[in-house]
Amino acid sequence: MEKIVILTGAGISAESGLGTFRDEGGLWAQHRIDDVATPEGFTRNPQLVHDFYNARRAQAVEAQPNPAHEALARLQREAKGEVVIVTQNVDGLHEAAGASGVLNMHGALEGALCATCDHRWPAPLAMAPDDQCPSCRSSTTRPDIVWFGEMPYFMDDIWQHLEEADVFAAIGTSGQVYPAAAFGQHAGRAGAHTIELNLEPSVNSRDFTEARHGPASELVPLWVEQELSR
Ligand code: OAD
Repeated sequence: MEKIVILTGAGISAESGLGTFRDEGGLWAQHRIDDVATPEGFTRNPQLVHDFYNARRAQAVEAQPNPAHEALARLQREAKGEVVIVTQNVDGLHEAAGASGVLNMHGALEGALCATCDHRWPAPLAMAPDDQCPSCRSSTTRPDIVWFGEMPYFMDDIWQHLEEADVFAAIGTSGQVYPAAAFGQHAGRAGAHTIELNLEPSVNSRDFTEARHGPASELVPLWVEQELSR
């Protein structure tokens, strides 16, 4: 039975109104990565980091999945084989569209994590530096987001899925952040048909057997239709 592994990035949520990182006017043009997306930045100024993720959480809870998220959930429901969704996004929109078992490799805005005892719990809409961990009572609570310099989640499972994939699709990601940027090459070497679906060629577009360029809300439903009719 065919196994399909999908990697998504910020581009799949762009048409749900959530900004990407590296497009013109994107999040990294407005904020310094070192300040808001590193453990050192959090140590220096936890309020600034909480403000950044509180704002993103507020946007994410208002956002609705778009036809691309919905098509992937449909592929999972209707494909005969296994469909694994790995996402670099932290917005929860795959789950909102009905996807299951999503591997949130960069964490999730809806999660809080205690930096002292590793306890996890649902994040309140607004987190603050003096919030206490419900388990150990330390005031070291942080968003359950993977920052630069930290190890993404589920990596052992993800490499395994990539090695078993018959088809690998990368959707809405610029291919600039590792390890996710290496997934296409890894799956291809292990024998998968690899396809990129992105607004424009990513930096590692050449690693893919096939590339289609355009908005995710158009490309993804079409690709899913084709996969289901193969
Ligand atoms: P980027 O902002 O780097 O790339 C988004 C990609 O989506 C670009 O290649 C765009 O061309 C494409 N895109 C934009 N709109 C699109 C649309 N409507 N349909 C299809 N594609 C579209 O975002 P990511 O690749 O997800 O990590 O970034 C990877 C990681 O870098 C993020 O998870 C985040 C960031 O720093 C952390 O914060 C740890």
